[in-house]
Amino acid sequence: MLENMTGLKRTHYCGEVDESLLEREVAIMGWVQHRRDHGGLVFIDLRDRSGLLQTVFNPQEDELTHQKSRDVRAEYVLALRGRVRRRPDDMVNPKMKTGRVEVFISELRVLNVAQTPPFVVEDHAEVSENVRLKHRYIDMRRPSVLKNFVMRHEVARLTRDYFSDHGFLEVETPVLTKSTPEGARDYLVPSRVNQGCFYALPQSPQLFKQLLMVAGFDRYCQIVKCFRDEDLRADRQPEFTQVDLEMSFVEQDDVMDVLEGYMALVFEKTLGLTLPRPFPRLTFDDSLRLYGNDRPDLRYGLEIVDLSGLLADSEAKVFAEALSRGGCIRAIRAPGAACFSRKQLDDLAAFAVGLGAKGLAWIKITAEGWQGPLVKFLAEGEKGALSEALKIQEGDVVFFGADAAKIVAAVMGHVRERVARELNLIREGDFSLTWVTDFPMFEYDPELKRWAAMHHPFTAPRDEDLAILESDPARVRAKAYDLVLNGSEIGGGSIRIHRPDVQARVFKALGIDETEAGEKFGFLLDALAYGAPPHGGCAFGLDRLVMILAGASSLRDVIAFPKTQKGACPLTEAPGQVDPRQLLELGLRIESKKDNSHG
Ligand code: AMO
Ligand code: AMP
Repeated sequence: MLENMTGLKRTHYCGEVDESLLEREVAIMGWVQHRRDHGGLVFIDLRDRSGLLQTVFNPQEDELTHQKSRDVRAEYVLALRGRVRRRPDDMVNPKMKTGRVEVFISELRVLNVAQTPPFVVEDHAEVSENVRLKHRYIDMRRPSVLKNFVMRHEVARLTRDYFSDHGFLEVETPVLTKSTPEGARDYLVPSRVNQGCFYALPQSPQLFKQLLMVAGFDRYCQIVKCFRDEDLRADRQPEFTQVDLEMSFVEQDDVMDVLEGYMALVFEKTLGLTLPRPFPRLTFDDSLRLYGNDRPDLRYGLEIVDLSGLLADSEAKVFAEALSRGGCIRAIRAPGAACFSRKQLDDLAAFAVGLGAKGLAWIKITAEGWQGPLVKFLAEGEKGALSEALKIQEGDVVFFGADAAKIVAAVMGHVRERVARELNLIREGDFSLTWVTDFPMFEYDPELKRWAAMHHPFTAPRDEDLAILESDPARVRAKAYDLVLNGSEIGGGSIRIHRPDVQARVFKALGIDETEAGEKFGFLLDALAYGAPPHGGCAFGLDRLVMILAGASSLRDVIAFPKTQKGACPLTEAPGQVDPRQLLELGLRIESKKDNSHG
């Protein structure tokens, strides 16, 4: 028989009950974690958001309540009233926050029963992600899951406070809108009253925040949902949250300064860490050269070194061939990697080949000398020069990539990350933040055979590069910057174009003609013509930031109801089919269906 709560009011959360409440009567409510029947005594661990509390049912205290407690099962919802007692010394559980006390129960009300859950509500429960997500509300009862959402709440609160304290206005921008190009596909929403027309869900509020600057709002910030129909990975979700902001009358350094203050506050308040400021800055070119990508993980060294000059006359075929084709030779010295087994080295080479390399030559420096497939081709002089250039020591392994610069950079960037993991160079609790600046304005899209914006088409080119916008787009740099945390891009922004003539030139360079520009972004061009101030801003990926702060490995751990790899929600079974009547109203007909099985 289920009971109600009438007349019984919660006095404490389970996790709050400690020795300060000895002999006091408390009323607690929550879920049954365990029930242990010791013949006479019955123990129930009750759980709520704050933690676990051991309760005791003694037949001598109240026969009926004791009897009732024996019928209780895991995850039943209970209201309990009882007296706090000190546990006998040999029963103290130092692992529990409430492990020095227990509550002797005089009243038990079963508020609800529960089916046996599909997995136990414990942090070490082994269960597939799909099952977890299908029963996310049970998954979320686990303390390790809850912890991430407490962290997320804290970051969101700090964000609001910080930007509000710095004069930013929170403004909501529309969700049913027109396409904002951020490089992904749009999610489209059909319009019923304008049949054949579609809204796009925003990939970001980019254009609206710029309009707010034209409006004179001066400083804007919003914690906002964005939608991008792109292939999902551990650090990408189709809907995610940005901390989005924009400022007027600023240059790049002003924006970076405000953002550094924000990050410093978040780290201090959530992890108690003081970030050294200013944050390091790397240009895009340097980042690519030294770390192989534009999101360098600086928690460890393993810099990539160019050896093309040093090995220009190498006898080794793999090197000579790469150089003769205009490529380069680059290497990473991995200290202590001589402990790698032959299989580990072969696996690394296979990994490099999987990424498009032709191989991954290596040299092992041991007490017996240099070992490896290419050692016999190295002249004594080359060995000496290599030793000096790489500061080689006994116990090291040097990995080599030889190919076109772009391939070598990408491959060595990944090899660097994998070697760091295999050598355990990344310590838990280490954080490295860096700005990457001076991005190219454009990148060439070989498929579409035209230039595309590297950040987005509203990013301002550097003033000194305006002159070559049309003649040499490859060399134009943008006033764009990314913030990288532990090898993950957590924020990106730029100074925007505020002059309609420059915006029109950039559209043209991107192959967007006047008609198309007018159709897609006419409202922005119009607004720029009505007195747009110089402005710039940035957006942080809130999910990514919280994921890293919480030490989680996937965005799904910090999003309450996330999507799977296929963009589906196992809990609601979205996306779903719709009633033919709805389609009719929208003037839509399904022509063909691809495989619809969600995974
Ligand atoms: P950008 O496209 O770089 O910039 O996005 C900003 C930040 O949002 C996060 N992010 C994502 N997080 C989770 N899942 C995704 N699919 C996803 N895509 C992006 C990243 C990224 O750094 N309007 C510009 C910002 C500006 O110029 O002010 C923009 O959206 O952490
Ligand atoms: P091979 O001459 O192909 O037998 O290769 C000899 C060694 O060089 C092997 O360890 C390969 O993994 C490596 N290797 C081959 N091609 C390249 C390359 N382009 N860059 C780096 N290492 C390579």
